[in-house]
Amino acid sequence: MANLGVNICGVDFKNPVIPASGVFGYGREYEELYSLSKLGGIATKGTTITKRMGNPAPRIAETPSGMLNSVGLQNPGIDYFIEKELPNLLTKDTVIISNIAGSTIDECVAIAEKLNETEVHMIELNISCPNVKKGGATFGVSCEGASEITKAVRKATTKPLIVKLSPNVTSIVDIAKAVESEGADSISLINTLLGMRIDINTKRPILKNNMGGLSGSAVFPVAVRMVWQVANAVKVPVIGMGGISNGKDAIEMMMAGARAVQVGGAVFTDPFAPIKIIDEINSWLDSKGIKDINEIVGSVQPW
Ligand code: SIN
Repeated sequence: MANLGVNICGVDFKNPVIPASGVFGYGREYEELYSLSKLGGIATKGTTITKRMGNPAPRIAETPSGMLNSVGLQNPGIDYFIEKELPNLLTKDTVIISNIAGSTIDECVAIAEKLNETEVHMIELNISCPNVKKGGATFGVSCEGASEITKAVRKATTKPLIVKLSPNVTSIVDIAKAVESEGADSISLINTLLGMRIDINTKRPILKNNMGGLSGSAVFPVAVRMVWQVANAVKVPVIGMGGISNGKDAIEMMMAGARAVQVGGAVFTDPFAPIKIIDEINSWLDSKGIKDINEIVGSVQPW
């Protein structure tokens, strides 16, 4: 069996597979199916300072090889997370990454300050949610916005800080460099691509919010391309996500330069997907005689 362990800004992961923020809640439903300690890490649902009910329904639409969501950051708020969910998560032998998603810089700072007093292992700053009017991707689509919020949150916490980027930008490399220069310890990408579906019988958009974020296998090549571009442009470790649904996808993403991967929509079709992906990575490495997963990170040989 190959070594599957990876290190991201000083934090050891037993393997590189992390259920992505928003698809795994706080793990409660999944811990009935398997031990969460098998996972490399868990990224929790984006948390705001107070409870949010999210956007009106319908907020999910099927698409070819994917789905659109406009959930709108429904979550119970940071105090509930810290009091009721984090203690259970911290009993698991896995890395807990708390995703934070405030509407303003001050809100993100306040959430980060609260998390700084906890035992959470890492913070993932979401500057890329396309489904909210304030905050989210409004921070992440300009270098100025991305820099300003990263700088402020960086000052608010000593926890390793991952910044999660939006693909809905002209130059992902410029945004990545901007957050790296303001103190991001790691960069995760990609969040969802802004999309839209219309019911041709009613002429109404399928989502009540009109637009939503596209995820699933359909976005995988876009994610691989952006991860490759960013990994070649920054020094901090990159975490890749976007349409990963099996072990080969995870290996491809790591060859593009990702040190670890997050698995999103695949857990909706198969809740065991992260566990299967760990096993498939392991089998593939064994079949190639590769003893350490770190050997494949960034190993693509471009023409
Ligand atoms: C949502 O809650 O709308 C999705 C979160 C995200 O895309 O960051």
